[in-house]
Amino acid sequence: MKHVKPPRIDLIRRPTPLHRLNRLSGELNVDLWIKRDDLTGFAMGGNKGRKLEFLMADIVAGNVDVVVTCGAAQSNFVRQLGAACAVLGVRCAAAIMAMPFDVENPCVVRTLGMKGNLVLDKILGIDLRTFPDGTWDQLYDHAEKLAMEFADQGLNVYRVPVGGSSPLGAYGFYEAAKEIDQAFDCIVFASSSGSTHVGLAYGFAGTSTRILGIACDPEPEIANDFAALAQSVRVYIPDGPDLKAADFDLDFGYVGPGYGIASEAGDAAIERLARSEGIFLDPIYTGKAFAGLLDLVQSGRLGGRILFWHTGGTPALFV
Ligand SMILES: Cc1ncc(COP(=O)(O)O)c(C=O)c1O
Repeated sequence: MKHVKPPRIDLIRRPTPLHRLNRLSGELNVDLWIKRDDLTGFAMGGNKGRKLEFLMADIVAGNVDVVVTCGAAQSNFVRQLGAACAVLGVRCAAAIMAMPFDVENPCVVRTLGMKGNLVLDKILGIDLRTFPDGTWDQLYDHAEKLAMEFADQGLNVYRVPVGGSSPLGAYGFYEAAKEIDQAFDCIVFASSSGSTHVGLAYGFAGTSTRILGIACDPEPEIANDFAALAQSVRVYIPDGPDLKAADFDLDFGYVGPGYGIASEAGDAAIERLARSEGIFLDPIYTGKAFAGLLDLVQSGRLGGRILFWHTGGTPALFV
């Protein structure tokens, strides 16, 4: 079957840089490279710009009045979506919670000061609606009510799922895989809402490259969500493999205290990369993913030519 390529709007500087980490490669005795999606040149960088190139094309084509999404208060996706909507003249609203997850978790530290991504969201003019902490399902409910509020006003509303993990979002990462013009044994990255993982899994299907997501969410059920997303992307990649939950290589060993909460190992990994290579990671996603990479290499479970895909998130360092 033919590949039905969806329309795209240029937002980021592609290809993002790809380079070797010489000092760390020497220290770890591996051939370690990095893909710099922290340097997309759009809205302070991050993996979401890739998803948004396809999502925004759909939004603009649909004559949308307002885009509605949701996320944690420090969502990197809300920031990048807000920037894309601003530059393309579409209104953007987001339902947010300081930390949307199990409220029973005793480690929860609620932070909703005007810091990090929230500073940038304000500059971008995003219509933020803040709700008390609750579960992800409660947050999705708030977003749906917000969307209905706009629809009742006669506005044309476009709903974007958390993290931009729609079929078009995942397709953005299928396209991203084409920027890798050399062979790696393994690609390691932070995995959460799934479109990065699903897109890369399709992009490298049939090759010997292992696609390893370090989970930033503690729930093992996310693999089922990834599989459902993978099925829906087949509209655009009909000749791709039929990916099931078990096909997603997810390591849950580095989530730390929970989603949205920094971990000791993640913080140590942030320091190690910054002090050895002058590159900053973030405490919620990439720091944990890099902690996983370091641990897997140091314990002999990962070796050879490794690519760390830096998915951005650095504004969360300033929270
Ligand atoms: C910096 C960063 N890295 C990784 C991810 C995970 O990407 P995905 O949601 O596509 O799994 C996110 C998503 O929120 C992110 O903000």
